Amino acid sequence: MATLSSGDESVEVADGKRLVLAIEQDLEIGIMHRCGGNAMCTTCRVVFTAGEPTTMTEAELDLLEGRDLLGEARLSCQIRAEGEMTFTPVLTKESEGTDNPGDTPDPDIQPPPVWTERP
Ligand code: FES
Repeated sequence: MATLSSGDESVEVADGKRLVLAIEQDLEIGIMHRCGGNAMCTTCRVVFTAGEPTTMTEAELDLLEGRDLLGEARLSCQIRAEGEMTFTPVLTKESEGTDNPGDTPDPDIQPPPVWTERP
């Protein structure tokens, strides 16, 4: 099991669960995922305070670099729950004033992940 914490909430989820889905379904935080979890929008980004993965998908790396967000945030649609992770989602339905966070992401990371080390 992985332990995920955000604010005052803490939940246990299955190892490997896509982080964006665990945030939405288990932590019950209305995180945004405008592109449906396809590494195209950055609205699913979170800021880690503990447990940031040392690997990332090439899709995440490319997008963070392109948006000047590398080192600032991570994309929860490109991360699997593992160990103990503590983070803050940046954009939520509440902060964006919307009821529509975007299409529900697939259970598996999309595009199919190619893993690389976090720079
Ligand atoms: S949901 Fe669009 S980049 Fe993660």
